[in-house]
Amino acid sequence: MKGRFISLEGIEGSGKSTQLNFIIDYLQTNNIEVVSTREPGGTLVSEKIRDVLLDDKLPSMHMDTELLLMFAARVEHVKAVIQPALDLGKWVVCDRFYDATYAYQGYGREIDLKRIDMLKDFSIGELAPDLTLLLDVTLDVSMDRVTKRGNKDRFENEKIDFYKKVRDGYLAIAHNNPDRVASIDATGSIEQVQTAIRIKLDELLNE
Ligand code: TMP
Repeated sequence: MKGRFISLEGIEGSGKSTQLNFIIDYLQTNNIEVVSTREPGGTLVSEKIRDVLLDDKLPSMHMDTELLLMFAARVEHVKAVIQPALDLGKWVVCDRFYDATYAYQGYGREIDLKRIDMLKDFSIGELAPDLTLLLDVTLDVSMDRVTKRGNKDRFENEKIDFYKKVRDGYLAIAHNNPDRVASIDATGSIEQVQTAIRIKLDELLNE
């Protein structure tokens, strides 16, 4: 059986972590062997790169450096974890993948999307998620949840204008990729969001 690749996206405070656990449990109860991972990260090398990327004591990183580090972490992660798991027929659930680069570095930092296309081709070729779940929350909900969490990283210290661009970017990505990306209203209760996610997972399980 062919492995399936699911990515989970959303701005800060969209409830990804909670829903990630639900997705893993749901797939496992359907007898699917699942690898749960995240970006940036997922390997020893990529987690080290993550530490640099999120370090709030390094506020002045050039946006191109940030972009290249995201892809460096991704190359390692795809080659060491994602592709081997898919080749073995496992399902991979990844907390963020390349849509995050388009949303944050492309729409958020305003790096030309064509440059990101180029780096994506170079780094991972044709690999794409089979399903991307975009947990969409309003900026108010996002900011409120992030503030309550405290201990902000380099991205969480960004201003609301940045998050507006990132959210609009995610919505544009969903609009432009309707067959792959499902935008889910994540402002409701955890159960409501789970119901919407379950519908999408069932579609994939029944393909
Ligand atoms: P996380 O907090 O959801 O684990 O994600 C870490 C941060 O990294 C989050 O603020 C989004 C950011 N990010 C990018 O800017 N570009 C990317 O390509 C990825 C994967 C994450």
